[in-house]
Amino acid sequence: MKICCIGAGYVGGPTMAMIAYKCPEVTVTVVDVLPEKIDAWNSDDLPVFEPGLDEVVKVARGRNLFFSTDRKKAIKEADIIFVSVGTPTKSYGAGAGRAADMVYVENSAREIAEAAESSKIVVEKSTIPVRTAESLKTVLHANTKPGIRFDVLSNPEFLAEGTAVEDLKDPDRVLVGGEETPEGKKAIETLVSVYANWIPRDSIITTNLWSSELSKLVANAFLAQRISSINSISALCEATGANVDQVAFAIGKDSRIGSKFLKSSVGFGGSCFQKDLLNLVYLCEHFGLPEVAQYWQGVIDINDWQKRRFSSNIATSLFNTVNGKRIAMLGFAFKKDTNDTRESAAIYVGRDLIEEQANLAIYDPKVNKGQIYRELIGEESDQNQQIEVCEDPYQAAQGAHALAILTEWDAFRDLDFQRIFDQMVKPAFVFDGRNILDHSKLREIGFTVQAIGR
Ligand code: NAD
Ligand code: UDX
Repeated sequence: MKICCIGAGYVGGPTMAMIAYKCPEVTVTVVDVLPEKIDAWNSDDLPVFEPGLDEVVKVARGRNLFFSTDRKKAIKEADIIFVSVGTPTKSYGAGAGRAADMVYVENSAREIAEAAESSKIVVEKSTIPVRTAESLKTVLHANTKPGIRFDVLSNPEFLAEGTAVEDLKDPDRVLVGGEETPEGKKAIETLVSVYANWIPRDSIITTNLWSSELSKLVANAFLAQRISSINSISALCEATGANVDQVAFAIGKDSRIGSKFLKSSVGFGGSCFQKDLLNLVYLCEHFGLPEVAQYWQGVIDINDWQKRRFSSNIATSLFNTVNGKRIAMLGFAFKKDTNDTRESAAIYVGRDLIEEQANLAIYDPKVNKGQIYRELIGEESDQNQQIEVCEDPYQAAQGAHALAILTEWDAFRDLDFQRIFDQMVKPAFVFDGRNILDHSKLREIGFTVQAIGR
């Protein structure tokens, strides 16, 4: 069997590496339009940082895992083609700021139709609006040669960044949606048989196409909703003297609620939650369900508010002005163990502080300088007087009025805070946007500490 994956990003790369790793008899080729990304996948410096990924790639690459820019060849040879391209929020035209931009998915469908010389199973791996499979089928069938058949399946990806390898090795479930025709069922069984190489059959769920597509959006909406729920309560905790981590622990012990995704923070980030919520809101409006749309919009609104609340709290606490003050920002990735910064809360907090004329000294163990500049000011100029990207946390803290924790990197817990305190302007503030530090120890050293929901 031959598999091709269109899109060598955060999902396509790790997912296909795992399939190749677990199924040595299947040849997997991952293609991308960006030659520099393919070069990176073929090097020792992979474009995606994920714990454990290097080892998986090392075993499979060159054996039955290949990264290539030759899209036509890979499509032509494949039995199964995964489409794993981006579906970002549309930034133009109808639905701008809410709907998913389907241009990369449609382009992929056209490329498949043009290159294919035999029947294929086409798998939507990207997260897409409900009923996209229908449009995909139409594009594929309108552009294909006679005698070629395309079966379209939906196989959304549930991995989380930072734990992608573990999530792929041992997923809670794999979801495959397809048509309820004999051909559709056969296509489902073909894809299921690939996953069944390492995933127990009862963890592989099969549904119709639309349920599968919608389940992905709903799963992300529910997860994001839990974070906004606990973040809304964090504000109430601050007002009442309760401790949000204690509240989360207490309610999470109820097995009906569960303990996961109740960690209050500076706000959720990442390429998925906001985009998929916006897409869900847009779909609900499109289908004439404004009350449902409004309900889910509330999850995004609370998240935006939480991020703003954090930056304005910094300014208020620093005697109502951060003008000309150095703020050390520790962490820029949207969560620990990833180099991904898409929609990171750090971007929004950073921009607010720049607007207030603060000087930012930023350190992140995995995010490079250019990326930080691009996210904050849209270009890679290190001439900006308000932003300094630092080599280590101590350099960032030198002469700073405040230290703000934006990402929960484990290494931040074990810093020499006495050394940091000694380097800072007094009174020295810590704003722990992830509640990961030992606050009583920091107070003993002399810091003024502000946390989320305490
Ligand atoms: P990404 O931007 O990291 O990767 C997408 C890749 O597709 C890019 O490298 C781009 O160059 C390539 N591409 C675009 N058009 C192409 C074409 N015609 N031919 C070949 N390559 C092309 O995006 P991602 O984070 O991997 O996300 C991909 C999809 O998976 C999205 O729909 C996303 O919502 C979904 N998803 C992402 C995650 C996650 O954690 N990042 C998790 C689950 C699902
Ligand atoms: C998410 C989903 O978890 C995953 O199933 C889906 O496939 C893609 O979207 P991801 O965005 O990679 O994964 O990471 P996730 O662990 O969900 O974290 C998202 C954001 O929420 C991060 O900014 C994280 O710091 C934040 N978060 C998470 C919290 O603030 N509190 C929590 O309790 C959990």
